[in-house]
Amino acid sequence: MGWFREKDKGRAAEQKPGVKSSSSILPCFLFVELVIMAGTVLLAYYFEYTDTFPVHIQGFFCYDKSFSKPYPGPDERSKIPPVLIYSLVTAIPTFTILVGELCAFFTKAEGTQEKTIVTADCCYFYPLLRRIVRFLGVYAFGLFTTTIFSNAGQVVTGNQTPHFLSACRPNYTALGCQSTMQYITERRACTGNPLIVMSARKSFPCKDAALSVYSALYTVMYVTLVFRTKGTRLTKPTISLTLLCLAMLVGVVRVAEYRNHWSDVLAGFFTGGAIAVFLVTCVINNFRQLQPCTPPLPAQHPESVLGVPMVSLPCVESPVDKLSGPQTSRRSPFTEIT
Ligand SMILES: *[C@@H]1O[C@H](CO)[C@@H](O)[C@H](O)[C@H]1NC(C)=O
Repeated sequence: MGWFREKDKGRAAEQKPGVKSSSSILPCFLFVELVIMAGTVLLAYYFEYTDTFPVHIQGFFCYDKSFSKPYPGPDERSKIPPVLIYSLVTAIPTFTILVGELCAFFTKAEGTQEKTIVTADCCYFYPLLRRIVRFLGVYAFGLFTTTIFSNAGQVVTGNQTPHFLSACRPNYTALGCQSTMQYITERRACTGNPLIVMSARKSFPCKDAALSVYSALYTVMYVTLVFRTKGTRLTKPTISLTLLCLAMLVGVVRVAEYRNHWSDVLAGFFTGGAIAVFLVTCVINNFRQLQPCTPPLPAQHPESVLGVPMVSLPCVESPVDKLSGPQTSRRSPFTEIT
């Protein structure tokens, strides 16, 4: 990777007292970040495409009304099929972060700001690539983590979807069902297609809702915290509310098509939202690590001047920087959600 080498050359060339040694970045990135990433992807794959983790078999009440909704067909025939969700969840944040970083880069490259970046990080395109890799990497990590969380929840609880009994098609005469109060624990009660029955046992929390809210919230926080839209006050709220609205729509459609209960969707929203908030506030410090490279904007953002780390490395960070971080800016994402 060329940009690592560029950076090391620059580090060796100028030995300034304010510049930290970067010898740990490359092994840190290769052996820690990439290994963790690969493990996460692998685990998500095992949850998603294999039956390594068998789903918990829950019983059901005879003729239970809350599980007797008509079978809406496979997920691919939904109004919002998984392929569409996966594409949007990948494309929208990637596009937004690329556009945001390129805009930030090109507006700062002209003028006096360039000098600061060169002093801190040798070649001035390096912070751009580093930021893109960091934000997209953390985003991808969170996406796979959200998948793992929702799949694990579905497998462990084994809560049924609203159309479970239509997919299961139990033989009530053979099971001896007389009243609706009778609880069936027989594991082979279902006569329907085993694959459909298995997927009808995975409902809580709703994965599509979790993924879309995670993606929307991450993008919204990126847009709100990084974009500088001078002159128009409503651009950022419009983008943010549109994305959140789309994410809500996914959950609403899931409920309307009898694919999930509203509690599954709420749990999915909570899972995805919590992971997004955690990653943005605790892992990438509200997207604020470029601040030392830019001269502080006078009087407009007074909180961004305080306590920002002088040299920000993606992997090695001094705990003092985190502790002395501005409390006002750290709290801002919470105020946006609540
Ligand atoms: C249900 O079970 C009863 C008794 O075992 C059997 O006679 C009947 O054919 C079964 N019905 C179906 C639809 O399989």
